Amino acid sequence: MYHLYIHIPFCESKCYYCSFTSLKKKNYEDSYFNALKKDLKFQLDFFKVKKNSIKTLFIGGGTPSIIQTRYYEEIFKILEPFLSKNLESTCETNPNSTSLEWLKEMKNFGLNRISFGAQSFHPKKLKFLGRIHSQDMIFKVLENANKANFKNINLDLIYDTKMDDKKMLEFELLNLKKIKPLITHLSAYNLSIEPKTIFAKKEHFKKNAPYLMKFFINNLKELGFFQYEISNFAKNKTYICKHNLAYWQGKAYIGCGLSAIGFLKNQRFYTVKNLKDYIANPTFRKIENLSLKDLNLEHLFLGFRSIVGIKESHLNTLQKKKAALLVKEKKLHYKKGRFYNLNFLLSDELALYF
Ligand SMILES: C[S@@+](CC[C@H](N)C(=O)[O-])C[C@H]1O[C@@H](n2cnc3c(N)ncnc32)[C@H](O)[C@@H]1O
Ligand code: SF4
Repeated sequence: MYHLYIHIPFCESKCYYCSFTSLKKKNYEDSYFNALKKDLKFQLDFFKVKKNSIKTLFIGGGTPSIIQTRYYEEIFKILEPFLSKNLESTCETNPNSTSLEWLKEMKNFGLNRISFGAQSFHPKKLKFLGRIHSQDMIFKVLENANKANFKNINLDLIYDTKMDDKKMLEFELLNLKKIKPLITHLSAYNLSIEPKTIFAKKEHFKKNAPYLMKFFINNLKELGFFQYEISNFAKNKTYICKHNLAYWQGKAYIGCGLSAIGFLKNQRFYTVKNLKDYIANPTFRKIENLSLKDLNLEHLFLGFRSIVGIKESHLNTLQKKKAALLVKEKKLHYKKGRFYNLNFLLSDELALYF
């Protein structure tokens, strides 16, 4: 079984916190998608992907919704024989650039999960983050996704910015309550200050308030969302994002498109980061070899952050003793050869303790 990530590197504007590869599209769509198609065909061959074996597809960005659907039609045509019957296929979109027509057409090609970058419902916080959409656009796009018959809808939010005091978080929760019937999944990301972003140039954009993070997460749970990773919440277990789960489980995945990353066994594959270089040579991959130590550390970080947990057999004798101690202290739970974290907010500390 395979998992496929496709990166669409174009955005209408640059948000102040964002370090993802996102460029102005200018007139690059034709050349980019021609390169992407070559890349895709090469990777399907390289990974020896069999018919019906791609279990999850994730089209991420950037802002995939600013690209006309005819480009995706060609991508789905190439992929069709390889997609599994119960495929989960997600596309990231922005509320201001996603029309009902676009949603309907993508649904027809086989897309069955849609993810909207809302980030906030508050006009001032949206402006502070550098977003170009309004609260109304979020409500409208969610209605449209339901009209287009999407049954699996995610919303992204960002919190722990300097604007997130208790009042702001209560405002976000109030709006989430309103739109809860329209969504099945929520990703609530704690703001991270990434190098080379506008937020990295000045200090004090982040709140760093653990008690408010706890307050927000507890309230999300009370709203009826089930937390299955530090930033990810599903209405129930059927809506857990299978694509992300595969990353956290350490499964192999293929990455196509500018600055995409793939992973197989102990190797990570990187495409180039410059648009013109990618268009000229889309099949090129820089290979990173990962040591057993790297892989084990990653297993610890990803496992403690999510319901995936840590396999006992991955731990050395000292680590097993530490894990047993944490079970006694009720910080970890042990079941059938795995240790599970009982508080995802402590995940990084736990991983470092090992
Ligand atoms: C790759 S972005 C693309 C999604 C889409 N273009 C959008 O902006 O709505 C996916 C999500 O990552 C989150 N994200 C990006 N940068 C972040 C940061 N520095 N800190 C926290 N979350 C971030 C945002 O919630 C965003 O919606
Ligand atoms: S957050 Fe989304 S819209 Fe904003 S710059 Fe990043 S990828 Fe583009």
